[in-house]
Amino acid sequence: MVTMVPVLLSLPLLLGPVVPQEAQAGCYSLTYLYTGLSRPREGYPWLQGTVFLNDQAFFRYDSASGKAEPLGPWRHIQRMKDWEKESQLQKFREGIFLETLQDIMAYYNDSNGSHTLQERLGCELQNNGSSGAFWKSAYDGKDFIEFNKEIPAWVPLDPAAWNTKKKWEAEEVYLQRAKAYLEEECPRILQGYLNYSRHILDRQDPPSVAVTRHTTTGENTTLTCQAYDFYPRGIGLHWTRDGEVQESESGGDVLPSGGGTYLSSVVLEVSSQDRDLYSCQVEHSALAQPLSVPWDSKQETGARSSGETQSQ
Ligand SMILES: *[C@@H]1O[C@H](CO)[C@@H](O)[C@H](O)[C@H]1NC(C)=O
Ligand SMILES: *[C@@H]1O[C@H](CO)[C@@H](O)[C@H](O)[C@H]1NC(C)=O
Ligand SMILES: *[C@@H]1O[C@H](CO)[C@@H](O)[C@H](O)[C@H]1NC(C)=O
Ligand SMILES: *[C@@H]1O[C@H](CO)[C@@H](O)[C@H](O)[C@H]1NC(C)=O
Ligand SMILES: *[C@@H]1O[C@H](CO)[C@@H](O)[C@H](O)[C@H]1NC(C)=O
Repeated sequence: MVTMVPVLLSLPLLLGPVVPQEAQAGCYSLTYLYTGLSRPREGYPWLQGTVFLNDQAFFRYDSASGKAEPLGPWRHIQRMKDWEKESQLQKFREGIFLETLQDIMAYYNDSNGSHTLQERLGCELQNNGSSGAFWKSAYDGKDFIEFNKEIPAWVPLDPAAWNTKKKWEAEEVYLQRAKAYLEEECPRILQGYLNYSRHILDRQDPPSVAVTRHTTTGENTTLTCQAYDFYPRGIGLHWTRDGEVQESESGGDVLPSGGGTYLSSVVLEVSSQDRDLYSCQVEHSALAQPLSVPWDSKQETGARSSGETQSQ
């Protein structure tokens, strides 16, 4: 089931970062992310939805099962939610989603074509008590329509979106409902989820660190420092030489490693004679102080293929 998530996230998406990249302490968000395909591959549902609390996948829904199902640690939290009721709500959204996709394809005279509709909506609570919200769709990877809650109005970003706007604004009460959902209902739902989820979202998992090396040429050694299984996402990872931070050759990206944690690595090519001077420095909110791991640390794994022995 969880394998669906990467499929969904690998689709081109112009809705900004798929999930919040970095939540500030005391700031929380609820994000609904939907992807609909007019011609899904055999065996795949045409609609997939994943719901996130901050950057953590909280529950999923798809059109094949018609069920909302908790993910990760939320599978084990009892009485948090009526999942039957959530499934009904998601099914209702599925109906609107399908109608919108069909309307767009009809507008473009391509009712049989292969097209994608994506939607991202949700809200956030700042620690100063204010809240923010967002609701935007993309058709075939391009901005389609966006809700402006200040006016309030649906703002078309594609010629076909004028029809959608007309439909979604057919009655004044539709706009008021969308605004009330984003500004009142969504933050209230999020607040309710937090009662059961703070321990997951506020957790501090310190990184594990592995330093590996392999000889690339006679004179140079490539050093790799990998930090993994950490949460939250923010990390400082550098090679240092005599305490001086070095520019890495590559790496530095922070990637999800499954299970809601992250990993990152930095690579540096150094002269073999000088390698004793290098250490990997790691800074993370779960560490009381920065961690410094020398290249020849005992934590080294999988670096023996070079045939070199370690000089301790
Ligand atoms: C779709 O077809 C109709 C009728 O043939 C035509 O009037 C219209 O311009 C077409 N729409 C687009 C977006 O090509
Ligand atoms: C759409 O696809 C169906 C079945 O694949 C086919 O029977 C129909 O002729 C197609 N219609 C158009 C307008 O291409
Ligand atoms: C709360 O903080 C956010 C972001 O830091 C800011 O944009 C907003 O104006 C603040 N709201 C209040 C009521 O202070
Ligand atoms: C969440 O906790 C707050 C404060 O403890 C409480 O007022 C509120 O009713 C709770 N909400 C839900 C949905 O449990
Ligand atoms: C060895 O690494 C240095 C940088 O540390 C680089 O300038 C040099 O080109 C490398 N030599 C080889 C043979 O790759």
